[in-house]
Amino acid sequence: MARRSWAEPYRVKVVELIRVTTRGEREQAIAEAGYNTFLLRSDDVYIDLLTDSGTSAMSDQQWAALMVGDEAYAGSRSYYRFEEAVRAVYGYEEVVPTHQGRGAEHILSQILISPGDVVPNNMYFTTTRFHQEYAGGQFVDVIVDEAHDPQSLYPFKGNIDLDKLQAVIDEHGAERIPYVSFETNVNMAGGQPASMANLRAVHEHCQRHGIPVMLDATRALENAYFIQQREDGYAQRSIKDILREICSYSEGATVSSKKDNLVNIGGFLALRDAELARRARALLVAFEGLQTYGGMAGRDMEALARGIHEMVDSDDHVAARVGQVAYLGDLLHDAGVAIVQPVGGHGVFLDARRVCAHLPQEHLPAQALAAAIYVDSGVRGMERGIVSAGRDPETGEHHTPQLELVRLTLPRRVYTQAHMDVTAESVAAVAADAEQVSGLRFTYEPPELRFFQARFAPL
Ligand code: F0G
Repeated sequence: MARRSWAEPYRVKVVELIRVTTRGEREQAIAEAGYNTFLLRSDDVYIDLLTDSGTSAMSDQQWAALMVGDEAYAGSRSYYRFEEAVRAVYGYEEVVPTHQGRGAEHILSQILISPGDVVPNNMYFTTTRFHQEYAGGQFVDVIVDEAHDPQSLYPFKGNIDLDKLQAVIDEHGAERIPYVSFETNVNMAGGQPASMANLRAVHEHCQRHGIPVMLDATRALENAYFIQQREDGYAQRSIKDILREICSYSEGATVSSKKDNLVNIGGFLALRDAELARRARALLVAFEGLQTYGGMAGRDMEALARGIHEMVDSDDHVAARVGQVAYLGDLLHDAGVAIVQPVGGHGVFLDARRVCAHLPQEHLPAQALAAAIYVDSGVRGMERGIVSAGRDPETGEHHTPQLELVRLTLPRRVYTQAHMDVTAESVAAVAADAEQVSGLRFTYEPPELRFFQARFAPL
């Protein structure tokens, strides 16, 4: 039978108007923003693919939930709804609310990492590594080699390489490893999943050495979808079931609810161990808020509780979400644009090393390409290369990641297929004329998480 089209499992009830700007306006806007797409005003952006973080559209049910939020300082009813949702969907007993993901990373790093400790991760995420280093830990990358190769078609590029992990244990000793930090659907690799077999094997391996596994479960839903699609034995299992199994191979998780959970702000740290949770809550009250709100309003927790259920109520939700990303990826691939393969869960990542082959990495090709795409069409993406990678805290030298990427990230339930067509046409046009993209140099470099606020000028 011929392949039939599918459509999103929702319809539009409210719209938000967006503005198309002229090329002259965009040239001025990007110059004023120091060629950093983070510093553009959103009014100057047409299609905003900067991030999928906090940019999703809530459902009518979630909007209705805002009205019944309980704003009690202590013991809010909305907190208990949210706690129940985390327990039911993720399966962790202890729930520690935070204002967003990095709040949970901060608390977890502070309670578990001592100066001199070593934390193995499957690639870095900017804020995760920051908090590990801020707590005195040393970040070590133990992701499989395939993750660093944008052209490798390996289906589970988020996997941890068990030999690399064992080498870290041999070198430093299990007692210096407070936990293994295991990110699901690895963001910086291009939204690439880990397999269930690998999650299980890493957990077994760590248990033998007495090392806990802490997930970054921020995009675990999207990881569950890839397991269902790609891993033997999971095709008939529900997303809800698969997500629960992913979490079962860990002692806890940090989650930025601004992604999978379909809300604009929020996050949590989830744990199994009550004593560890007690230590987390002791810090929570100093840095985030009381243990029954942790920086979220009651209404935010109410919408979050519904978002957590909504994301798994039907497998159609995640299929449409990842399906839209795949649609954009296919358009770009068919247009001959170099992208990270396979296409990941939350966005399409352009391979700036190949698109801008005339620019060496120290001329910041991904930063320059993101700016050029914005000027062409008002589509805003984000650099994920040498600028995002920052400097080695020991040597002060730039990290020089193999992946030099521009991320076009899709908010959930926000843009249409026509927006994807416009995006693909613009990116293909810029890529076809890429020698016109000139390199950039820093004019201002903040010491920490520099990509957020750095400024640049054309070379
Ligand atoms: N972990 C991962 C994998 C993330 O992608 C993010 C945020 C965080 C943790 C931190 O969560 O923003 O709620 O504090 N990623 C955003 C992005 C910023 O654009 O990829 P947060």
